[in-house]
Amino acid sequence: MFEGTAVHHWLCRGALYLLAVGVTLTSETRQPCPQSCRCNTALLEVNCSDVQLSAVPIGLPQDAKLLNLTRNKIKTLVQQQFQSLTKLLHLDLSDNLLVIIEAEAFLGLQSLLTLHLARNHLKIITVGAFAGLTNLQILDISCNEILVFLDFTFRDLAALQFIKATDNDLVFISHQAFTGLTNVQQIHLDGCNLTAMPTGALTQLNSLRSLHFHRLSLTTLPNYSFHHLVRLKELCISHCPWLEVLSGNSLFGLNLTSLTIKHCNLSAVPYIPMHHLVYLVYLDFSFNPITSIHGNMLGDLLRLQELHLVGGSLLRIEIGAFRGLTHLKLLNVSRNHLTALEVGAFHSVDTLKTLGLDNNPLACDCRLLWVVRRHLNLDFGGHSPTCTQGWNFLGFSVAELPGLLTCRQPQILNHKRQEVKVDQGLTVALHCNAEGNPLPSISWLNPQLRPLPHIGRIQILPNGSLEVRYAQPQDSGTYLCVASNAAGNDSLAVSLHVRAFQSSSKNSFHLKGWFAFPSASPGMNGNQKLPFDVKTLLIATTIGFLSFLSSVSVCFIFMFFWSKGKGQIKHTATIAYVPRSAMSNSKGGTGNNMETSRFTMKLI
Ligand SMILES: *[C@@H]1O[C@H](CO)[C@@H](O)[C@H](O)[C@H]1NC(C)=O
Ligand SMILES: *[C@@H]1O[C@H](CO)[C@@H](O)[C@H](O)[C@H]1NC(C)=O
Ligand SMILES: *[C@@H]1O[C@H](CO)[C@@H](O)[C@H](O)[C@H]1NC(C)=O
Ligand SMILES: *[C@@H]1O[C@H](CO)[C@@H](O)[C@H](O)[C@H]1NC(C)=O
Ligand SMILES: *[C@@H]1O[C@H](CO)[C@@H](O)[C@H](O)[C@H]1NC(C)=O
Ligand SMILES: *[C@@H]1O[C@H](CO)[C@@H](O)[C@H](O)[C@H]1NC(C)=O
Ligand SMILES: *[C@@H]1O[C@H](CO)[C@@H](O)[C@H](O)[C@H]1NC(C)=O
Ligand SMILES: *[C@@H]1O[C@H](CO)[C@@H](O)[C@H](O)[C@H]1NC(C)=O
Ligand SMILES: *[C@@H]1O[C@H](CO)[C@@H](O)[C@H](O)[C@H]1NC(C)=O
Repeated sequence: MFEGTAVHHWLCRGALYLLAVGVTLTSETRQPCPQSCRCNTALLEVNCSDVQLSAVPIGLPQDAKLLNLTRNKIKTLVQQQFQSLTKLLHLDLSDNLLVIIEAEAFLGLQSLLTLHLARNHLKIITVGAFAGLTNLQILDISCNEILVFLDFTFRDLAALQFIKATDNDLVFISHQAFTGLTNVQQIHLDGCNLTAMPTGALTQLNSLRSLHFHRLSLTTLPNYSFHHLVRLKELCISHCPWLEVLSGNSLFGLNLTSLTIKHCNLSAVPYIPMHHLVYLVYLDFSFNPITSIHGNMLGDLLRLQELHLVGGSLLRIEIGAFRGLTHLKLLNVSRNHLTALEVGAFHSVDTLKTLGLDNNPLACDCRLLWVVRRHLNLDFGGHSPTCTQGWNFLGFSVAELPGLLTCRQPQILNHKRQEVKVDQGLTVALHCNAEGNPLPSISWLNPQLRPLPHIGRIQILPNGSLEVRYAQPQDSGTYLCVASNAAGNDSLAVSLHVRAFQSSSKNSFHLKGWFAFPSASPGMNGNQKLPFDVKTLLIATTIGFLSFLSSVSVCFIFMFFWSKGKGQIKHTATIAYVPRSAMSNSKGGTGNNMETSRFTMKLI
């Protein structure tokens, strides 16, 4: 019995031992870890990063939630590579040498939420490569060499929310490439050699809220590029060195809150294309060669809070540039060529909280006084503006500044009333020179006191003179030159009298040669200038003369032979002649304009 119990005891211990061994054995088969990886059994993470793997290791723990395979030398992913990892949430394959991903490579990863494939050598994505990733939310395929997105590439990714595809070499995006992506909210695309906006493909993305486009080789953003993207809130286009123009309807259909077009080649703010973006809050045109923000052009953007135009070519921000922008909180125009930023540019500076104005050649004058007065309420982002005179005007007390930041009111030089007379059809310039600090800007008002343009028949020249080309009698009147700067204005009246054409025509004929035209009117001056349309006049009269002359000559020759036959030779003939132009142009003509001219023909 005793032996029996001893044997029994031994057996029991043996069984227990075996049981224990069995337990450890099963726990080991349930949680294997490939040799080169480190498995964190508590967090269910498998770290196979940076271990020179050339293929996905086998024997991965089936309950893993994260598998990190970054910085290895994996070149291909074969079909159903990860089939057993049904619980995997995150898979990171960045920084490998991936060239091919076979169709259904990820089949079985039904729980996967994020997939990172950045910094590989993918040139194309096989249709069906993403099959089975029904819950994937984030896909990162940036920094590859992908050239095209084929039709239905992403069709299996119904839950996808974010695609990051920057730093590829996209040349073509097929119309149906994004079919099936019904939940994508954000997409970052890249295309160096895209010859057209992939408008057709984008229409599939009807949940899209944010679209980033990097490196476009377009010169013009075409009309209706983004229509159908009715939910899009954020559009960012960057690094397009050729993009110069946004067509009038290029942003049609969009209701954006944020628009960025930076590092492109826009030379003007695209006022027209964005005028309907009344919900816009954030606007960024940094690093474009934009030279000016014009007055009263941004007023439609009534909810705008931030305007960034850093590193541009801004020379001027006109008075009224931000009129209507009652919510403007931030203006960043650092690194431009501004000499001033006048308080008149703003709707109200009370809303302004942040001002980037550093790295501009600011002139130290009264136009900066408002900045000083508000400087305690303004955040300069750590870079105070300084002016070209070299001192930081914010270092002075508010009391001493008005003496330092001064302006001088404009003064028009040669300040006496001018009268200018000119003949119809000629070009005349009315001069207006002014001095002041800052240098005043010159504008001209017409006799009806309406501002005159910088282009047209009557135009303001860059030097401030007013040029009237082909002067007409109705241009006569008093023009007003106004020189104004931040300190005030000065004005000068110049009266212009345009003599109607007829009064000058009679003085304008002077031809030397076969014929002389003694005029019946007194005060004939042979050296007077010909009027502007002398060419027309000459042609008309020449044609008239030629026919007239030929008939006269025939008569004359006839007379000559006839008189010769009679024995008396007549050497001269005087013929009355009314110039044709004077006859046709009778408008406003006075009696003596219609006078007859006479010419004498001499027989040799
Ligand atoms: C994974 O392993 C690598 C190499 O041993 C190590 O440098 C890295 O910090 C690990 N990563 C994580 C997330 O534990
Ligand atoms: C994978 O590991 C690398 C290196 O340790 C790390 O930078 C990366 O964030 C990890 N990926 C994930 C998804 O945790
Ligand atoms: C774009 O096309 C030009 C010629 O058309 C070529 O030289 C250049 O390498 C292409 N760039 C990319 C990123 O494919
Ligand atoms: C940018 O536009 C200007 C004209 O506005 C042009 O001269 C220049 O070549 C353009 N730059 C590029 C890189 O196309
Ligand atoms: C784009 O639309 C604007 C405004 O309707 C129109 O003036 C312009 O001609 C269009 N441009 C093109 C290239 O169709
Ligand atoms: C435009 O967007 C704003 C919010 O960003 C929203 O309140 C408004 O209803 C939208 N308008 C249209 C016509 O969709
Ligand atoms: C303006 O933008 C530049 C460049 O993005 C930035 O460094 C600077 O801090 C900004 N200034 C302000 C006042 O926000
Ligand atoms: C302004 O320029 C025009 C032509 O460029 C010239 O005729 C005129 O004399 C100039 N005015 C002054 C005041 O120099
Ligand atoms: C000139 O200054 C006066 C006040 O000094 C002002 O009323 C007037 O509007 C100014 N005129 C112009 C054209 O700026």
